[in-house]
Amino acid sequence: MEKPVSLLSTVVIVLLLHVSDSLAASSAHSLFDTFLNCLQTHTNQPNQVPNIVFSQTNTSYDSVLKASARNARFNSPSAPKPLLIITPLNENQVQNTVLCAKSIGVQLKIRSGGHDFEGISYVSQASSFIILDMFHFQNVNVDVQNEIAVIEAGASLGQVYYRIYEKSKVHGFPAGVCPTVGVGGHISGGGYGNMIRKHGLSVDHVIDAKMVDANGRILDREAMGDDLFWAIRGGGGASFGVILSYTVKLVPVPETVTVFQVDKSLEQNATDVVLQWQQVAPHTDERLFMRLVMQPVKKRTIRVSVMALFLGGADEVVTLLGKEFPLLGLKKEICHEMRWIDSVVWWASYNDGSTLNALLDRSHYRVHYNKKKSDYVETPISKDGFNLIWKKMIELGRVVLIFNPYGGRMNEIAYDATPFPHRAGNLYKVQYSVTWEEAGDGAEKNFIGQIRMMYNYMTPFVSKNPRRAYFNYRDLDIGVKMHGKDSYQDGVVYGSKYFNRNLERLVKVKSAIDPENYFWNEQSIPTLGRNKNN
Ligand SMILES: Cc1cc2nc3c(=O)[nH]c(=O)nc-3n(C[C@H](O)[C@H](O)[C@H](O)COP(=O)(O)OP(=O)(O)OC[C@H]3O[C@@H](n4cnc5c(N)ncnc54)[C@H](O)[C@@H]3O)c2cc1C
Ligand SMILES: *[C@@H]1O[C@H](CO)[C@@H](O)[C@H](O)[C@H]1NC(C)=O
Ligand SMILES: *[C@@H]1O[C@H](CO)[C@@H](O)[C@H](O)[C@H]1NC(C)=O
Repeated sequence: MEKPVSLLSTVVIVLLLHVSDSLAASSAHSLFDTFLNCLQTHTNQPNQVPNIVFSQTNTSYDSVLKASARNARFNSPSAPKPLLIITPLNENQVQNTVLCAKSIGVQLKIRSGGHDFEGISYVSQASSFIILDMFHFQNVNVDVQNEIAVIEAGASLGQVYYRIYEKSKVHGFPAGVCPTVGVGGHISGGGYGNMIRKHGLSVDHVIDAKMVDANGRILDREAMGDDLFWAIRGGGGASFGVILSYTVKLVPVPETVTVFQVDKSLEQNATDVVLQWQQVAPHTDERLFMRLVMQPVKKRTIRVSVMALFLGGADEVVTLLGKEFPLLGLKKEICHEMRWIDSVVWWASYNDGSTLNALLDRSHYRVHYNKKKSDYVETPISKDGFNLIWKKMIELGRVVLIFNPYGGRMNEIAYDATPFPHRAGNLYKVQYSVTWEEAGDGAEKNFIGQIRMMYNYMTPFVSKNPRRAYFNYRDLDIGVKMHGKDSYQDGVVYGSKYFNRNLERLVKVKSAIDPENYFWNEQSIPTLGRNKNN
């Protein structure tokens, strides 16, 4: 009885697939024409349109798509592909891309640097989607006199740092350590780096912004109002519109800074080093940032690395840590004094003799398969706790843990000053990371399985109710919104982990600026209103 039925249904499905395939092909074609027509009719330079639209048959389509796809998991031939990629050259083209995509009812994905850990700026669950790629918006205009910079969304962090350095050796900006990360995603989602304890997050220094909303309007800080300006400083840009630029306040950096790295294995008492790190790193002088990287080595031991930036000279940090962190055994010989801009290159870990120019190179990035997750720690983990953690890491074999200390300036900024809620009370953030080179589902299943097991294992040691996560470390495991539904409840699941008590205000802003929920993605801010009970 069962066999014929399933055979029959297979035939039906094949027929249906066939029909819907050709339907999809022809509708893709007409969508393309309609969209192109719309863009040509409405932009103020219609002759430019043929230069900014890449269809699937265009010979450059693949290379444009891949140019800033930073995770091999979403690069495979079977990954969902955009109907079109649009690379606007000016604001007017961004406005009309939004309006024309909306008029044909196709989802728009916005991409700046393409570093999203789940690739949601260039893949989608939607049946058809268009990528608006901010690639051409790379201008960084530094005004040293007023200590500000206007940064376009498509610039990379390396470009930001370099352009500041060109104008001043004693200014910098607190943002991420990976130079190829894009401003559009990074700043709209919070943004932190190795000056977090001295200067807080990138969003703590944003003083103006320019964006395009779902009605195609260009809004600056004054026009968008306090609520929306608040939301796009940590709540992510993609739920609200297209960020064109941020205006930021620069921060002072000393002429000489110090970096160092110290490695210890378990045999070299790494566990005691980590325990002392926990007592020191979140509480010490706020000019000092000491990242902890823990990785299993040959299924046998754990290597713990302390990577540090000190906004001052080597003598001072050696004396400071001699008192506070004697188990580290820091010696001046392993400290490197340098200019702040050189410390940016050191932290990028290029290990290939790269010079400052590498900061301008957006393709200086090795694409591999990866999966990341995050957590927050509020109470120190005990020695027994760490022994269990090491055992689990060695057993799994490939999951790396990275602890980023908070404290300092982070303790002084109010919980609701921006949507980013992880301020006072957090000792450090945990990043889980697994990377691999092997293609195929088997490898993916294995490595993603490992990182999920590690994350589950860490439950007793990390924040609860809700278990918090960093929005810029996108993780679809913590909840997704299903395509085609504006489900408020689904949105609250991941939204409260990323934003905790700040979610409510984000929902209000979203509902006011984009009530029809045009700017939808897998983890966008949910809207209140007619779909509330879906
Ligand atoms: C190697 C690596 C290192 C990292 N290091 C750090 C770090 O040190 N500190 C840190 O805080 N984070 C770090 N991150 C995470 C990073 O901040 C986020 O992935 C960030 O969102 C990337 O921004 P993007 O523009 O490159 O990404 P994209 O993939 O282009 O965008 C990410 C999200 O933002 C949206 N978006 C992008 N541009 C716009 C825009 N113009 N308007 C509206 N929405 C937009 C996208 O639609 C997507 O939802 C790192 C990521 C990687 C891959
Ligand atoms: C591909 O798209 C670009 C940008 O729109 C355009 O300049 C180019 O002529 C197209 N090439 C082909 C072969 O269609
Ligand atoms: C590790 O700690 C023990 C006990 O405190 C000590 O005797 C030993 O010298 C330490 N080993 C190293 C390599 O520092």
